[in-house]
Amino acid sequence: MVQKEIIYHTMGLWRVIILSVCTGFGWLLGSGAAQPGSGAIPNTINPIALGQKWASKVPLASVSIDLTEIKSEKSTFEFRTFDPEGLVFYGDTQKGTNWFILGLREGIPEMQFTRGDSVSYNWGGPKLNDGKWHKLEVESEGRFVKLWVDGSQALVGGLDSVTTVHQNYLEGPLRLSLGAMLMEEEKLFHPLVLAMDGCITKGNWLKTTKLWQKEPDLDPKFCMDDIKSGSYFSGQGLVVFNTSDTHSLPVLSLPAHLTSKGDIIVEIEGELSIKGLTGSLVNIQTHDRETVVTIISKNEELLINLGAEVHTLSLDSHVETLALIFTKDKILVECGLKNVHLDLREPQDWQSQWKNGLIITFGGVPDVSYRQGSDYLLGCLRRIKVQDQEVDLDRALYKDSSISSHSCPYLNAQ
Ligand SMILES: *[C@@H]1O[C@H](CO)[C@@H](O)[C@H](O)[C@H]1NC(C)=O
Repeated sequence: MVQKEIIYHTMGLWRVIILSVCTGFGWLLGSGAAQPGSGAIPNTINPIALGQKWASKVPLASVSIDLTEIKSEKSTFEFRTFDPEGLVFYGDTQKGTNWFILGLREGIPEMQFTRGDSVSYNWGGPKLNDGKWHKLEVESEGRFVKLWVDGSQALVGGLDSVTTVHQNYLEGPLRLSLGAMLMEEEKLFHPLVLAMDGCITKGNWLKTTKLWQKEPDLDPKFCMDDIKSGSYFSGQGLVVFNTSDTHSLPVLSLPAHLTSKGDIIVEIEGELSIKGLTGSLVNIQTHDRETVVTIISKNEELLINLGAEVHTLSLDSHVETLALIFTKDKILVECGLKNVHLDLREPQDWQSQWKNGLIITFGGVPDVSYRQGSDYLLGCLRRIKVQDQEVDLDRALYKDSSISSHSCPYLNAQ
């Protein structure tokens, strides 16, 4: 078990230890238990999918609890994801002056919380992004916040001040939220890609009976019964990357063993030959929005638009990889043992095109506005790689909310 505590001092005066009379972080950890009635989330029954509103700053659900109503400093819930990074839940008092988040980074739990001007950052414990349900418990104990995973203690964080006059951090209502934070992202100690393709259920938040306010169009169906790892495209939207954005796509350089193959390599893995996978797999446009290549899956065939040429490739069964390889002189499309290519009329400098901003779209062909398009993909892609590195759809320039970035329905579950 990895355990790591980092205490961050925004003011030199703050120290890690000890005021014996201490308010604790209990205020952070609560939330409304499930109660039938209008406006309430049947939290004990229906799982809530956290990733159903792309880039929304408005929580899917939130609750504000009077501190006198809090009966326990412990919150428990079950959580399931394949997503390595994102927000699990947020809590605060005094309208965000003191805040807490539980998140995941590289699949490992992370807590960030404040006390006055100081921020505590804590990362450690078991990897949770294995697609199985895990029971999480978060408890405040004096100057510490503790996280249990499946009954074992996984992470402990602490923070206090020795120099400052004791302040009452427990003023005002305690707020909790799911799906988005109630403060600006910039306040985080360690920035996090907040989007989380995960589900929460069976919540018992500080044993209060306060009802949660939910978004009117919260979709309970979004949380699938059985899942497998992959990206699920529901036939309603697309996801767009701009290669000049280094935060969302890996750096251009390919690993040494691939540089002889090409300058840019885009790969899609999945059951490409199965019936039912229909729509545009990938579309690549130049900075000037001119399409270089589009590959559409239809009736177990690939329609490949390369420059002005159109090719059809029938898919052999069990073909699992589609690769687009860009070299100075040609663009090559490889699928299983078959391939087609386009000889370029003039040599291309893909490195500078990449830096200028190539638009790579999965699951559709974007219109002038990248938020719209056509030929939306229906089906599951196991993995998307650009320059030999797995792409995280949560980091895209734009992703339609209907796309599950890290989970696909698992239909054959017995
Ligand atoms: C992609 O990024 C480049 C460079 O920042 C910018 O000029 C271009 O407009 C971006 N394209 C889109 C579609 O956002």
